[in-house]
This record gives sequence, C-alpha cells and structure tokens, in this order.
Amino acid sequence: MIRAGILQFTPAFLNREESISRVERLLDGVELPELLVLPELADSGYAFPDRDCAWDIAMPVHWNPFLDYLHGLAEAQGTHIVSGVLEKAGNQLYNTSVLLGPAGIIGIYRKVHLFMGEKDIFSPGRASLKTWPTAIGRIGMQICFDWMFPEPWRILAMQDADLIAHPSNLVLPFAQQVIPAYALVNRVFILTANRTGSENGVSFTGRSLIAGPDGRLLAQATEQADGMIQATLAPEEARNKMITFSNHAFRDRVPSLYGPLTEDTQRIEPF
Ligand code: ACM
Repeated sequence: MIRAGILQFTPAFLNREESISRVERLLDGVELPELLVLPELADSGYAFPDRDCAWDIAMPVHWNPFLDYLHGLAEAQGTHIVSGVLEKAGNQLYNTSVLLGPAGIIGIYRKVHLFMGEKDIFSPGRASLKTWPTAIGRIGMQICFDWMFPEPWRILAMQDADLIAHPSNLVLPFAQQVIPAYALVNRVFILTANRTGSENGVSFTGRSLIAGPDGRLLAQATEQADGMIQATLAPEEARNKMITFSNHAFRDRVPSLYGPLTEDTQRIEPF
C-alpha cells in the first residue's frame, strides 16, 4: 500500500517565488505521501493575456526553481512528485507535467490537447505517450483538457500505468464526472490535481479527486479549499484488468473495428 495525495492550491500568477512560498506554507510540517500531485502550471498561473507574457517567465525544466524546490522535497522525504510547469524549450513554450523522484526528473509530458487560448501560447506535445516505472508503481501523465479525449488514457493503461497523474486547471465542471469512469474502464488509479481561485476573469473549479480502478472516489477536495487530500491505495490493483470472471478490459477489445480512431480526419463518414 502507498499513500497518494494531491495538493490543491492557487498558484501565484506570474510569480514563481510566491508560488513556491504558497506550496511551502501548505506543506509545512506535513509528512508527504509517496506520490504527491500538484496542479497544471503550478509555478506560473494560467491565464496569460498573450504569448509574450508567458514567454517572459517560462523556464527550461532543468533550471526551474519551482522544480528544484520540489526535487528537494522528493529527495528529503523519499517521495515522488508530479507537477505542472510552464516550460520553455528552444523557442517553443509547452504546458508540461514533470515526474520527479528522489534522484531528480524521471519523465516529462507535454500537453497534447490545448484548451481555447492555450493554442495561441503553447506548442502541442507530440511525443509518443509514455509511462515510467518507479518504486511505487508505473506512472503516466495527462494534463487538464486531455480529459476530453479517452484515447491517451487507454494507451497509458495499455502501457501498464498503475497511476495516472493529471495536473489540471479545470474551468469546465465535467472532468470531475468523467475521470472516475476513465479510471473504471481502464482499471487504473487517476489523480486529478485541480487548482482553486480565479485569474483575469477565469475561475477554476477545484474538486480535485483520486479515483480507483473500480471507479470509486477515494478522496475529493471541495471547490475552494486549499490543502492536501490523500488516499491509501494498492497500485497493483490496477494490474487486474478483469471486470467479470470472463471479461478482460483489454483482451475483450475488438481493435479491427477501431481503425477510424487512428485516422487523422476531422469527421468520420457514416456508413
Ligand atoms: C485546461 O485545459 N486548463 C482547461
């Protein structure tokens, strides 16, 4: 069994040092769970008026003081931490999630499905979807609006993800409904770490959640409270893909019928 947690909070807009202070205050005296997930863009805030504004504070992941601070925590407490950050790589900006362990960065994921004005700021992630083995189970990552697209969640589960960390800045109220169903149909644990507060007229919906492979909510935050929620869970439960004694979530699939899913079309013709 491990303890898995989410830190729901309001990042300080355009102020990385203050975002670090806010996390520090919320975690003061707290024994960290083995896996802690923070929201999307936790170092920078979200509602950039334009790309230049985001560019001015974006940083490469290897130089980012917010990640240095989280790495210090992971090293001191022997934990794993996933956080969203604003990434600058060459002349591109990415909305990125970073998996850290006691020895440093284990993996990064760049958001694939960009939401509304994000398309004017970020380049979409186009690297193959991956999962990473760790001492606490195999971990995959998705970011916020990726919730709208079931395909990557399935692919991560088929790559043996036990836990999918989902840093978010949700503005629509739907993901909190659909995530337990994704956990159920893929038989994985999902940790959706949302933020609180509002920025430049954009309000965020909180209600971060941890869902189990049977679709049950193991923990959920309120809409507005900042702080940690946690659950004790057994990552190996995600390795049992049986939904009845004769139905397997993956082996009962019929991929020969699913070809249209891999066609890069805007619209699939009806038969
Ligand atoms: C979102 O993808 N941050 C709504």
